[in-house]
Amino acid sequence: MEIIVLETYHEISQVAAEIVVRSMQQTEKIVLGLATGSTPVGLYQELVARYKKNEVDFSNAVTFNLDEYVGLEPEHPQSYNSFMEQHLFGEINVPIKQQYIPPSNISNLKEIDRFCLWYEEEIQRHGGIDLQILGIGVDGHIGFNESSSSLQSRTRLTTLARSTIEANAKFFDRQIDVVPKMSITMGVGTIMEAKRCILLANGENKAKAVANAIEGPITASVPASALQMHPNTTILLDASAAKNLKHLEYYKWVYQNKRELETQM
Ligand code: GLP
Repeated sequence: MEIIVLETYHEISQVAAEIVVRSMQQTEKIVLGLATGSTPVGLYQELVARYKKNEVDFSNAVTFNLDEYVGLEPEHPQSYNSFMEQHLFGEINVPIKQQYIPPSNISNLKEIDRFCLWYEEEIQRHGGIDLQILGIGVDGHIGFNESSSSLQSRTRLTTLARSTIEANAKFFDRQIDVVPKMSITMGVGTIMEAKRCILLANGENKAKAVANAIEGPITASVPASALQMHPNTTILLDASAAKNLKHLEYYKWVYQNKRELETQM
């Protein structure tokens, strides 16, 4: 894993955007895996700004979102469909037929299973995910893969942990009772097949989950810890999210050396 610790949220968002833009420049068609939540908002703002300056073109991009709540109208302001429209899709030029995101309004189990299989097939049909953006939950979840998710799990229906419902209540006027309890999420196994992953985390409330994911044992109790086995993952942290890391100085030293080498090239 490459672990990049920078001072601020703004800086990690900028570096993440640079990685996305460079990856897009290296290929004709990119398949992006996208995340929601407050963490990637700064990254999306930067991508929108670069798109508006004609620095990046999304017309050949295909996007697959990680997850969606079950039991909300797609137009609900807190559905991840609405989130994506507001923060990214409404502002850039990814053609709508190239935007894949689970629907929030299917509740029939058979239909959900059918959808999940289809989603996996579509990811394969597009050649797999080239670059997967991730956030992390306070309990170490990725997507909506909560503790106990198999590290080989695929896209499926999951139940949110109490801590996730409480954390996400901030988007629902702090009304815990209206936060959906279930979701459709890509599995940990699905995420692990992405060619590259970038996980972003900021703020002190993520420090414990970040330390467990990076330095703890690989365990289904902390689904993000599976990334220790991923061959090409970059973790971008602000100073607060990094504060519980035992080997923080080493990670900073590695990054500093890499930067020095890059400037010599
Ligand atoms: C949400 C999403 C995750 C996200 C995480 C952190 O529940 N399902 O994909 O990474 O929790 O959210 P936030 O960025 O708002 O802290």
